[in-house]
Amino acid sequence: MTSDADQLTGREAEQRAEKLRDILEYHNYRYYVLDDPEISDAEYDRLKAELIRIEERFPGLITPDSPTQRVGAEPRDELGTLPHEAPMLSLLAVQEEGDFRHFHTTCCNELDEQRVALVGEPKFDGVSVELVYDGGALTSAATRGDGRTGEDVTDNVKTINEVLLRLQPSADLTPPKHLVVRGEVYMEKAEFAAFNRGREEAGEKTFANPRNAAAGSLRQLDPAVTARRPLRVFFWEVAPSSSERPGSQWECLELMKALGLKINPRARRLESADEAVAWYEQTLAEREELPYEIDGCVFKVDRFDYHERLGMRAANPRWAVAWKFPPRQETTRIRSIEVQVGRTGALTPVARLEPVRIGGVEVSRVSLHNQDEIDRKDIHIGDTVLVERAGDVIPHVVRVIVDLRTGEERPYHLPDSCPACGGEVSKPPGEAATRCTNAACPAQLKEGIKHFGSKGALDIDGLGDKIVEQLVERGLVSDHADLFDLTVEELKGLDRMAEKSAENLVAAIRSARENVTLQRLIFGLGIPHVGAALAGDLAAAHGSIDELAAAEADELQGIEGVGETVAGAIADWFHNEKNRQLMSRLKERGIDPTSRSRGQRLAGLTIVVSGALDSMSRQEAREAVRAQGGNPTSSVSSNTDYLVVGANPGAGKRQAAEKHGTTVIDEAKFLELLGLQ
Ligand code: IVH
Repeated sequence: MTSDADQLTGREAEQRAEKLRDILEYHNYRYYVLDDPEISDAEYDRLKAELIRIEERFPGLITPDSPTQRVGAEPRDELGTLPHEAPMLSLLAVQEEGDFRHFHTTCCNELDEQRVALVGEPKFDGVSVELVYDGGALTSAATRGDGRTGEDVTDNVKTINEVLLRLQPSADLTPPKHLVVRGEVYMEKAEFAAFNRGREEAGEKTFANPRNAAAGSLRQLDPAVTARRPLRVFFWEVAPSSSERPGSQWECLELMKALGLKINPRARRLESADEAVAWYEQTLAEREELPYEIDGCVFKVDRFDYHERLGMRAANPRWAVAWKFPPRQETTRIRSIEVQVGRTGALTPVARLEPVRIGGVEVSRVSLHNQDEIDRKDIHIGDTVLVERAGDVIPHVVRVIVDLRTGEERPYHLPDSCPACGGEVSKPPGEAATRCTNAACPAQLKEGIKHFGSKGALDIDGLGDKIVEQLVERGLVSDHADLFDLTVEELKGLDRMAEKSAENLVAAIRSARENVTLQRLIFGLGIPHVGAALAGDLAAAHGSIDELAAAEADELQGIEGVGETVAGAIADWFHNEKNRQLMSRLKERGIDPTSRSRGQRLAGLTIVVSGALDSMSRQEAREAVRAQGGNPTSSVSSNTDYLVVGANPGAGKRQAAEKHGTTVIDEAKFLELLGLQ
């Protein structure tokens, strides 16, 4: 049953809000924790929209654990602190099998037992957090801090989808009244790589590894920023300060799982040291395939009564140990340093290494990023360096082994002129990058054209790196607009380009010209600091390239997430004469998409799409509605003009449409309205 928020009495609204919170938390848990959703995304959105409506009408009903509060708290000046009721301990770390066996033998001896069962868990490489649930609702979250007091990250943790705001109720399990759980917030390797790529595209500082990214994201002052980061969690402890706690670690893991708290499926109960060693070996062997980073295995004596008897050693419990994996670091020598020129003209020094295997992968080159980084690490050609590879992360130089210098090493400075074109280079004060200032630099042009044709931009099929390099080298392309003048004849002359491929490429370029959206064009231009997401915001705020080009820096700063530097960079880019010429040459070739004025076919109409469409995703459908001046919304109300139904639409939407007399149409009719059929 759905409700019309505007008709409910206060009492009804309270009951409905309560119910919606339970439903939403349950489906959130199915989706994020179990990875097994029961309802469509659309249905979820609809339920959430309904709750938002109720809470807007009755703000007094908003509770801190409401799913609507996952992003919502205001940014703060600094994170407050929260004391831990019981200290968050750290673990004794060992590297060798012998040391691990010694740990186990000591436990057996101290306890005067032949066999002491352990629980083995991966040691997640993230940030540890403590969460408190009172009466089943998440009330606070803190980082480990110094073990006694941590930073208050409650609002940030609430934005992590895998974190339950309310424990999963179940028929046969009453959650402890006061439950304190601990775990690790982390980023998956692939999600980290994509996140870092996005930052790089936007000209933002990248993170060295997933752990740093997770830590930085969790400690944001603005929860809305944390909400956009791909954070996840594994819980590994029920703290002793909880009101009730089972008698062993294994049962605690089971309890957490039953309550819907995400635990790691690799955890094992291990009956002996031999079993533990075998499990460690297996985990080490499978480490590279895991989607997240682990840096060892943690072994905990299973029974808590044994914990009491074993006690503590300094700040470490004597009942647990971390057996770390061998480091994925190796030393090698820098043979030479080369320079690459990127599309923004940035000169990137890249060290050529004596090839070395690190964690099963051969590494022979590593980016040194920029001159500041070389100076900070005091890197010389010929130096022996410690190189680290963390997960999918690009290898990097940790430090120079200065003791191994022979006196033969040579300091390094980026060249005074561009290695690609001989043009002048400059390093503006306050900026890390040294850039080639020659607007006609072929290396910049090649990279710029590659970016222009890339997936997130014009998505030109068949315009590979090798083709772009030849096009520039042969003088067939000297700016982006030239691409649209290419003929099959010209392309046929390129290496490894048959007539058919040439025809296909010309067709792909034509199709890109016809289909490019304003957002993709803005992104494709490679304006410094403008990644795909910002390009979307710029396109939404300005209807065309001309409008955007005319915007002054202070006007651009009105857009969310655009600060002074970024606004200045965008305005500068459009003031540049060469870029202005490029814009008009693109326009002459028919590349002038608009975001608003493309059509007014749906002007003033409110449209809801429910279920899956064949011809486009729901997101694309929303954009298409917007592009025609319409207003896409997610729930049917008396303001809705059309309900578009695709496959498996939400049942509630049809009922609501009936109730409000909304016209229900199918996909074909929708495409007709959009002028697409
Ligand atoms: S148990 C007394 N289990 O490693 C037990 N810790 O030095 C305390 N960690 O700060 C920790 N995975 O951040 C435990 N499965 C796991 C863990 C784990 C990662 C981290 C945690 C802690 C550090 C221990």
